[in-house]
Amino acid sequence: MQFKIIAARDLNEQARQQIAELCFTAFDEDPWSQYAFMQTAVHLVAILDDKIVSHALWTDRIFIIHGSVKVRTAYVEYVTTDAMMRGKGLASQLLRYLIEALTHMGYELTALQPEDVTFYKKLGWTPWLGDLYIQQDRSTYLTDENEIMLYPLSIRLKALLSHCTVDDTICTEWREGELW
Ligand SMILES: CC(C)(COP(=O)(O)OP(=O)(O)OC[C@H]1O[C@@H](n2cnc3c(N)ncnc32)[C@H](O)[C@@H]1OP(=O)(O)O)[C@@H](O)C(=O)NCCC(=O)NCCS
Repeated sequence: MQFKIIAARDLNEQARQQIAELCFTAFDEDPWSQYAFMQTAVHLVAILDDKIVSHALWTDRIFIIHGSVKVRTAYVEYVTTDAMMRGKGLASQLLRYLIEALTHMGYELTALQPEDVTFYKKLGWTPWLGDLYIQQDRSTYLTDENEIMLYPLSIRLKALLSHCTVDDTICTEWREGELW
């Protein structure tokens, strides 16, 4: 299996089509049709026999932890494996590759909203226990119905998150569509 990292704007028609099909099957939507910011996403694909069999993408966000620590974060979404190829370890391999790649790219943190917490826990992700805030224009508000998981990539973030409790906060900028 081969992994490729491709910016959304550089996807060729065939790759775009295959990713759209995978995401429609899993999520009833493709990543691009609804939200303009997805045009700036970066895709990670696993390719087997010329076919994309597993996929994830990330977009850049800045997380502010404790109200003051600014963290360059890769926000991961649309994680899916071809329905015929599930249960063979493909998404696990893809996500391990993603962690390596993001670390080399200088991201300090990666985060996602899980469909299946157990799946990500097995891969070393941890649920965020504190509150989540969104900053929009000049106001900040609590979004308490959301759950995210984190994977710290830098030494600084590993140390910081190891001391976090339910009293800690993460805040990030508003975006269209799903906030988290
Ligand atoms: C979640 C998903 C990405 C996992 O992909 P995958 O390539 O099957 O993942 P893996 O083979 O690495 O399996 C990881 C875990 O999935 C579970 N799993 C095993 N067989 C499975 C199957 N046939 N179908 C789904 N999950 C299975 C197991 O818990 C497995 O852990 P294990 O290492 O103990 O076996 C895939 O099921 C999927 O595309 N689901 C629909 C979209 C979705 O929910 N995405 C998550 C968004 S957060």
